[in-house]
Amino acid sequence: MGEAIYMGMMSGTSMDAVDAVLVTFPDDHSVQLLASISRPWPEDLRQSLFELCRPGAQELYRMARLDRDCGDFFAATAQELLRQHGIAGADIAAIGSHGQTIRHEPGVGHSLQIGDPNRIAEVCACPVVADFRRRDLAAGGQGAPLVPAFHAALLHQTGTDRCVLNLGGMANITWLDGRSECAVSGYDTGPGNVLIDAWMQQQHHRPYDPQGRYAAAGDVDAEMLQILLEHPYFALAAPKSVGRETFHLDLIEQTLARLGRQLADSDILRTLTRLTAVSVADCIRRHGERGELILCGGGVHNLTLQADLAALLPGFKLNGSDAYGIDPQWMEAMAFAWLARARLYGLPGNLPAVTGARGGRCLGALYAP
Ligand SMILES: Nc1ncnc2c1ncn2[C@@H]1O[C@H](COP(=O)(O)OP(=O)(O)OP(=O)(O)O)[C@@H](O)[C@H]1O
Ligand SMILES: [Mg+2]
Repeated sequence: MGEAIYMGMMSGTSMDAVDAVLVTFPDDHSVQLLASISRPWPEDLRQSLFELCRPGAQELYRMARLDRDCGDFFAATAQELLRQHGIAGADIAAIGSHGQTIRHEPGVGHSLQIGDPNRIAEVCACPVVADFRRRDLAAGGQGAPLVPAFHAALLHQTGTDRCVLNLGGMANITWLDGRSECAVSGYDTGPGNVLIDAWMQQQHHRPYDPQGRYAAAGDVDAEMLQILLEHPYFALAAPKSVGRETFHLDLIEQTLARLGRQLADSDILRTLTRLTAVSVADCIRRHGERGELILCGGGVHNLTLQADLAALLPGFKLNGSDAYGIDPQWMEAMAFAWLARARLYGLPGNLPAVTGARGGRCLGALYAP
């Protein structure tokens, strides 16, 4: 069963695309990527998802329909990946499908992902594991982040402190203490790309700041940065996790209104980029001053953000996770393949020290082929 093939599927808080991978796990500490695909959400679905992330009229009706439509899109993505590589559903041990988060409110004990897994099972004719977060929430945890257990299994190295930084819509870190086999910390540090993306979409009708070029042309506004850093999320102690409910376009507009003066567009982007870097670096420095910083997620392409991180964390050696044999784009999807495998084996998928749950729990519901 060691060489069984798993699929992992993920769409994160950026809501840019569904990423899917086919992988095997040759042993408990390695992953082999067989194939991958990334399919951007069709514009109408993406727009509906954005709208559903904010409170509004007829939510239940819209959610039920989007659950169906997103399920179909996840299913079509999985099917396309299998077709491209001539693999039958019967050859897959399980698909782990994270779904699309439309609400994440761990403070009141819930987190909601949609994208009906029944539809994936129906189309691909293999077992599907989904609904990964709610068991952890039921056990008193945040339901997030769930990737640190996977990071720890793959990247822990005795003798070296390592920090994995995922730069998705939100940013999350996993601190892997080199002194100990089992000391893992991890949480969402705050915004990753979400505020930069929101501003680019509103002002430039572009999905993101390509390579961080727009930001590179501006200067950090110290006062705007200070106002943003006063956000209460940054002062919260771990365990903590956050979503689009907390960091969104309105926050930028409120900040600019409080600032009470005009700023150049590039200065705003430069400041939002620095906000991500400062909030991440502050968290990392609480764990240590030196080590290896391993980057993954779409934010690895933002060179301005990377330069800020390097400047703020001089004691760290920065590298993309590709330098460790894992493509930065597929880390999250791989993690959900790994979590599906844990579900089949009846193993815990969460780390109580990370999520705050009362104990390790086997995560996810299993949908029959
Ligand atoms: N060439 C690029 N230049 C700058 N930023 C980029 C580039 N390509 C991707 N990105 C950023 O990466 C984001 C997508 O990253 P990713 O898919 O890892 O995030 P996600 O879907 O939110 O995942 P999660 O929240 O689960 O970590 C885009 O929204 C964008 O901000
Ligand atoms: Mg994505």
